[in-house]
Amino acid sequence: MTLTDLPAARIRTFHPRRGRMSDRQRDALERLWPAYGLRIAALDGPCDPAALFGRRAPLVLEIGSGMGDATAAMAAADRDRHYLAVEVHTPGIANLLDLVERHGLDNVRVAEGDALDLVRAMPEGCLDAVHVYFPDPWPKTRHHKRRIIQPAHVALLRSRLAP
Ligand SMILES: C[S@@+](CC[C@H](N)C(=O)[O-])C[C@H]1O[C@@H](n2cnc3c(N)ncnc32)[C@H](O)[C@@H]1O
Repeated sequence: MTLTDLPAARIRTFHPRRGRMSDRQRDALERLWPAYGLRIAALDGPCDPAALFGRRAPLVLEIGSGMGDATAAMAAADRDRHYLAVEVHTPGIANLLDLVERHGLDNVRVAEGDALDLVRAMPEGCLDAVHVYFPDPWPKTRHHKRRIIQPAHVALLRSRLAP
């Protein structure tokens, strides 16, 4: 095999980061992940959003939910819509799961992994809204290719939005 036979390295919109979890977050992750979590890398076909929630409702996708405080507040104030938060940062996922339990939210699910892979697996027109808050800490020109907000990604997101 030569170097040119190797697959091109995938350009990611995030940096894997380490972070400590509190005991509370670790406990929430262990207990709540089976009921509320989706591992994107484990998807082996199309993603049916309604199956994640067990019922149909307008679906909001949040890409990069961080520590989840905004997600939980919005979902608590908007119980008739489903919120699917996507993050790669495990302590953030754990924190959101803790908030989901503390606020008694049945309209939130949390996906772990690359949101763009998840969106590609979703059917066209299935989203009511896409939320992306404070994305892209990529100010250098040579890092612009890592941005979520760039034309190809926006076209992908648009294709999954309901008309
Ligand atoms: C600058 S932070 C903003 C976090 C949050 N929205 C806020 O306002 O506090 C961007 C977040 O997006 C996540 N992220 C970036 N690209 C992602 C992707 N393709 N899939 C999932 N999460 C992603 C990062 O892990 C990071 O936590």
